[in-house]
Amino acid sequence: MTDIRQRVLELRDEINRHNHSYYVLNSPTISDYDFDMLLKELERLEKEHPEFDDPLSPTHRVGSDINRQFDQVAHVYPMLSLGNTYSIAEVEEFMRRTRQALDGQPFDIVGEMKYDGTSISLIYEHGRLVRAVTRGDGEKGDVVTDNIKTIRSIPLQLTGSGWPEMFEIRGEVLLPWEAFERLNAERAFNEEPLFANPRNAASGTLKLLNPAEVAHRGLDAYFYYVLGENLPADNHYDNIMAAKSWGFKVAPIMTLLHSIQEVDEFINHWDTARKELPVATDGLVFKVNSLRQQLNLGFTAKSPRWAIAYKFPAERALTRLRFVSFEVGRSGVVTPVANLDPVLLSGTIVKRASLHNADIIRSLDIHDGDMVYVEKGGEIIPKITGVDTSARGDEARPVEFVTHCPACGTPLVRVEGEAAWVCPNKYGCPPQIVGRIEHFVGRRMMNIDGIGEETAQLLYDNGLVANIADLYDLTADKLLTLDRFAERSAQRVIQGIEDSKSVPFERVIFALSIPFVGETGAKKLARATGDIDTLMGMTIEQLTEIEDIGGRIAESIVEFFANDVNRNIIERLRAAGLQMSMPQDDRPKSDILAGKTIVISGTFTHNSRDRYKELIDLNGGKNSGSISKKTDYLLAGDNMGPAKLEKATSLGIPIIDEETFLKMIE
Ligand code: IVH
Repeated sequence: MTDIRQRVLELRDEINRHNHSYYVLNSPTISDYDFDMLLKELERLEKEHPEFDDPLSPTHRVGSDINRQFDQVAHVYPMLSLGNTYSIAEVEEFMRRTRQALDGQPFDIVGEMKYDGTSISLIYEHGRLVRAVTRGDGEKGDVVTDNIKTIRSIPLQLTGSGWPEMFEIRGEVLLPWEAFERLNAERAFNEEPLFANPRNAASGTLKLLNPAEVAHRGLDAYFYYVLGENLPADNHYDNIMAAKSWGFKVAPIMTLLHSIQEVDEFINHWDTARKELPVATDGLVFKVNSLRQQLNLGFTAKSPRWAIAYKFPAERALTRLRFVSFEVGRSGVVTPVANLDPVLLSGTIVKRASLHNADIIRSLDIHDGDMVYVEKGGEIIPKITGVDTSARGDEARPVEFVTHCPACGTPLVRVEGEAAWVCPNKYGCPPQIVGRIEHFVGRRMMNIDGIGEETAQLLYDNGLVANIADLYDLTADKLLTLDRFAERSAQRVIQGIEDSKSVPFERVIFALSIPFVGETGAKKLARATGDIDTLMGMTIEQLTEIEDIGGRIAESIVEFFANDVNRNIIERLRAAGLQMSMPQDDRPKSDILAGKTIVISGTFTHNSRDRYKELIDLNGGKNSGSISKKTDYLLAGDNMGPAKLEKATSLGIPIIDEETFLKMIE
């Protein structure tokens, strides 16, 4: 076998492994830069030696985000990617190449940010949004219109004038830094896996099946490309400005550049200035402005010849791995954490980085004392992206994942089909017990003031609280035996415990730490069952009939209540006076509105608008914010918006007042 063929095969193998870590395990094992370099080397070798090409080579694949649960449609114009480079010299080369291809004609360049989210294509007809489609494999994508509609900055109906009868606009769906940090804090709190960066969070969010959950996450979108016939202008810049006047949030940084020198200045400026932006960016995009010149330059099979992306080098640092620690969370999952010699990275000192799971440790082939590369994935969570094996001593031993729980010594078990190792000693493993106490007292659960992470640990270590029911046996005197408490702080905790007895049933369910039961699941369970005894007596089949309760959650609930330790805790909580049922008012009343969608508009006299929403829900109906062909009734109060009234009338939707509605559900 020739050396070249050997290298081609090695590269394919390595690239395939990195693709798997990135797309399947959601944990990159290499920096984007290094990955691109491997791909470029392979592309070059395959081009120079077509005899070694292979239709299944990773160079022939466009990353696909297609998901079976959404409808798919073909793109009107294929969604290509951009040729990219990490070198300023290559951007300059692009400028020279362009001038040559245009026979020396002068041309303008538009400099933009390369936003690091997930791309979206919107189709508008007669000024109305008709479809939103993900990139997919570039040829066809998933229809995610309902999720896209939750993004408030996206116009559903255009304003202004001059839009073509039919056109497409493309842009990037983003999760701004602030929303990303809030989402990850929420996930950390619920012990759900964190998103590595805003890009993964944005694309994951766009693929959620529940638009209400999408709305909650706070996506945004910037638009940077208009396509179609009869566009208002003959250049990119003016078309984007026209789109702005139609109501789109267009890419906020767009600068007309006239020379290589101006392009260089743009790069130098944004290389650092981008750190102040509210959204993640991973580079810059340079586009030829004139559409006529774009047409002359044309496309290669994969990307336009009239544009290029310059990618910022990822900030990374080399440091020594001191040791790997293994940490146990509330759910028993064991997470490996790399403890590092402190190193400065993008302005902060990094001492620890997640190693995610056993598969990642193995694919990195990391050894004790290795010199490792640390990168900030999306600049937030540091991660280890590689190992400098040349600096490894002969004696170094590979890092082994622990076989027993580092906290209680129990042999770990692996959940089928998942990468995580779990300590099964739920009721005897200290960090799991303390984690559940901490969760129970949290703000969104029982909201017991004065107990946080440290106090929960202290109460456990001193034998005062060994499970959540023990909290209700605490007295101020018992607390005062601990140095941490004085009269006032002890009283505050006791008062908080007393107040928790009126916390609603749905939050009590969430507070119990039933594996896989989150805040929304707890709410659904409370509504559907009405009280704890009904919930405890349900079978897996009955549970899965409840909206949003799948097989895995149902199994976990049944297992939880089958356990004597848990049943005993519940009895003690009930005896202490916690809310173990829903108030009569909040219980499901009928299914008289099953299958009916009702839109509410205006103000009411008998009940608040929110109570009407609840009443629709409690009688099996669905409340929706906007009128469509699928609306069954419009519940109209005073001062209702004329647009809604007109739309309901034109679609022939029955309009009912509150008295009629109350009679309907009586
Ligand atoms: S223009 C035909 N402009 O980068 C090319 N793309 O690698 C049309 N992106 O899939 C794309 N910011 O998701 C363009 N200002 C920008 C961009 C941008 C981010 C993304 C987009 C695209 C990818 C290309």
